[in-house]
Amino acid sequence: MPPANEAQKKVVVTSALPYANGDIHLGHLLEVVQTDIFVRFRRLKGQQVLYVCADDTHGTPIELNALRQGITPEKLIERAYKNHVQDYAGFNISFDIFYTTNSQENRQYAELVYKSLCDNNLVEQREISQYYCENDKRFLPDRFVVGTCPKCGAPNQYGDVCEECGAAYEPSDLKNPQCFICGNEPVMKTSKHFYVQLGKKEEFLKQYISSPGVLQEDMRNFVKTWIDEGLREWCISRDGPYFGFKIPDTVNKYFYVWLDAPIGYLSSTDKWCKDNNRSVEEFWGKDSNSEIVHFIGKDIVYFHALFWPVMLESAGFSLPSSIRVHGFLNIEGEKMSKSRGTFILAREFLKKMTHPQASEFLRFYYGAKLSPTTADIDLNQDELISRVNTTLANNIGNLHHRTIVFCERYFDSTIPDVSWDNQIADAVEDAAKKINDAYESCDFKVVIETIHALGSLGNKYYQDSKPWELIKTDKEAAGSVMVTCSNLIKALFVFLKPVMPELSKKIETLFGLSLKWDDYHFSLRNCKLAATEKLVKPLESKDLEKLFSGATINRSKEEVNEEGLIDIDSFFSVDLRVAKIISAQKVKKSNKLLCLQVEMGDQKRQIVAGIAQSYSPDDLPGKLVVAVSNLKPAKIFGLQSQGMLLAAKDKDGSLVLVGPHKDVSSGAKVS
Ligand code: 2FM
Ligand code: ZN
Repeated sequence: MPPANEAQKKVVVTSALPYANGDIHLGHLLEVVQTDIFVRFRRLKGQQVLYVCADDTHGTPIELNALRQGITPEKLIERAYKNHVQDYAGFNISFDIFYTTNSQENRQYAELVYKSLCDNNLVEQREISQYYCENDKRFLPDRFVVGTCPKCGAPNQYGDVCEECGAAYEPSDLKNPQCFICGNEPVMKTSKHFYVQLGKKEEFLKQYISSPGVLQEDMRNFVKTWIDEGLREWCISRDGPYFGFKIPDTVNKYFYVWLDAPIGYLSSTDKWCKDNNRSVEEFWGKDSNSEIVHFIGKDIVYFHALFWPVMLESAGFSLPSSIRVHGFLNIEGEKMSKSRGTFILAREFLKKMTHPQASEFLRFYYGAKLSPTTADIDLNQDELISRVNTTLANNIGNLHHRTIVFCERYFDSTIPDVSWDNQIADAVEDAAKKINDAYESCDFKVVIETIHALGSLGNKYYQDSKPWELIKTDKEAAGSVMVTCSNLIKALFVFLKPVMPELSKKIETLFGLSLKWDDYHFSLRNCKLAATEKLVKPLESKDLEKLFSGATINRSKEEVNEEGLIDIDSFFSVDLRVAKIISAQKVKKSNKLLCLQVEMGDQKRQIVAGIAQSYSPDDLPGKLVVAVSNLKPAKIFGLQSQGMLLAAKDKDGSLVLVGPHKDVSSGAKVS
């Protein structure tokens, strides 16, 4: 039984909701591992912890990604959900619920929060001008407009930020703007939008962020500066079509994804409560005594420290007790970046690290590096090897091995019935206080350092006591060394359990216990030890080779092995579809290119293909061909091209388009 005061404590803990349009990578894992360690620590103490997370499923990038892949957004988020659940499970992330923001519960809470914002006179309507595509009959959000960067002149840039020079701008600043879907030039049109008047909540926000424990000091100063500079109103609406929730009593207006994303914390808790016969009020009610702890990266502080508290207060919910902000993950000193190839996915890590304990080693490594600051964290392969081997294999693993082997040989696999060394027991008591406080403040680096120091103390005590000599002359004294070391090992694994739950299971089996926080006190004597294996096999550089050789050098090389073979995932990343050619035209000033309008299922696309010397435009309408549908759009001879046709090159250099041998509907997947 946990102590009564601990058992009464309730806490909702969250990690930021990952976007459903991408895979889980090692950066996401840094955050969920940090959260999971905190959650497991609080559970170990006997508290009622609810660890809540969900996929963040709405918004333009998801709609755009689905469009590119020729699938519905619903299908896209369904696939992402399965992958995310699997990836997190590979790292033992102990969510109580991993839900989705595309749920009935989330719609209901989004509407409720919006209504409260309106009732509290916090929402104003204004008309703004925005790009509109006459051809597709829709307003074009930032990412649906492409054009030339107004700053550096790079072509094919989205309407919000230039991927070449990093400049941020409005879609209307782009030169030669084009609709991303059809390539036509959009027009400016006015549209009404909804704005939350954040400025009206300035006093509330100032007070909230100054409450003790809400933010780390550097983050609090940051947020204070934002408030002092003047809070800007926040646009919470988007024009349809938009993948999200319709705003009640409006025509074709949807909630902006950042309105319903954090509401996902609340609605996912509600779903868990419904499934477990509990009430959401227990956790989020204004008068509940539950803590709410959010773990987030430093890029989304604005949303969590300003918008989110205003929404919660307006709707009468309890405010976050603590918003714990962490830094970004770098790999080998470099920013994780897809374009630079320093980007490692969770499932690649699981597949390519050959050591069976690799995923726990990553948890341990992150733990050893995480502190309460928002400094970035570097994943370095040499450091990973040395930290794992120094603390786990050579220190704690060694203490465990020599103690257990000695007990097997001289005490019939029993911890003898003699007294322990009080100095070591006292050192553990002191360390427990330090480790408890370090866990509480998310100073996991100090947790691991203190565990390491205790392990070293244990090994020194063993070495200095020389039980292998004592056993010949004073069996009781040798037994006392074993009792002391066994109890120390038990304490070490109580302390390590939130970080390494799997490894701790081996110790639980050894002593026949399910370790709780209070088990760090010395207690064992005169008890049998179960059969045990070595705790940790050292990590070697060959275990990391497959993962790091590609990831830090070049992702495309990594996917091609020495024999020039690719794995099946690389093949499946190319989305091949049957396309029906509707019309074809010669491209002015080019004797190689034809501009084709094709149909792929419900979609129409324009593809520029270099087949003019092998086909005349009149031969093509009606033909079924195979196209790469998820190719990044490009501009060729000033024309938008949204895909590529497959063609075989004959001996004489002429091209023959590849197509199905039987009639098949356009849009059909080719694999
Ligand atoms: O930045 C992100 O990845 C967002 N999907 C985080 C959302 S957290 C919460 F507010 F939902
Ligand atoms: Zn268009």
